[in-house]
Amino acid sequence: MSRTDIVPFFRAWIANPLQVAAVAPSGQALAELMTSEIKPDTGPVLELGPGMGVFTRALLARGVDEHDLTLVEYGSDFVRVLGQRFPDARILWMDAARLAQTKVLSGAPYGAVISGLPLLSMSPRKIIAILSGAFGYLRSDGSFYQFTYGPRCPIPLRILDRAGLKASCIGRTLMNIPPAAVYRISRRRSVAFPPLANQM
Ligand SMILES: C[S@@+](CC[C@H](N)C(=O)[O-])C[C@H]1O[C@@H](n2cnc3c(N)ncnc32)[C@H](O)[C@@H]1O
Repeated sequence: MSRTDIVPFFRAWIANPLQVAAVAPSGQALAELMTSEIKPDTGPVLELGPGMGVFTRALLARGVDEHDLTLVEYGSDFVRVLGQRFPDARILWMDAARLAQTKVLSGAPYGAVISGLPLLSMSPRKIIAILSGAFGYLRSDGSFYQFTYGPRCPIPLRILDRAGLKASCIGRTLMNIPPAAVYRISRRRSVAFPPLANQM
């Protein structure tokens, strides 16, 4: 975590605690864990809630081409910083829950989704909208990576079951404030993501 990022991130949290949901950006250990299964041949990567870009930097270090990055961020101050830091990435200033409706990413099958979104502070309906949108753009073998400060996967089991998804913890790190775990969410079968929003 860059020291210069701490103050603006903390200010963003003060202004919108539920949306930012962390007092400081993630640390390097969590960024490495989040991106540990990403390889140069993963292909395009969709990042949700990048904040100041700590996972974005880790993705570039894993060999992902900056042109292959799409960053979806809701906070306007974060969007401005991301634009300066990652001029070749595609940056979308929008609510990640609207991905499915807007069809904004059509024609881009992604190899992975990296999510820093605060799912624990979101309603089940919003989580479903986010998953439905993200999996609609993911390749059939692609995975959605999510970190959490909680003791279990932040996506309730009933949502995973009804969506035909499974979650596995790929690691935990104490070297983060607070300590965090990372989950890989993937399809149980290679089928198109079911229209969850209509099922729940
Ligand atoms: C816990 S912070 C994580 C930031 C960064 N990934 C990190 O780990 O340091 C959550 C981020 O998600 C963004 N966010 C929250 N809700 C969002 C939404 N509905 N759509 C897009 N971004 C959202 C916040 O603005 C913030 O940047």
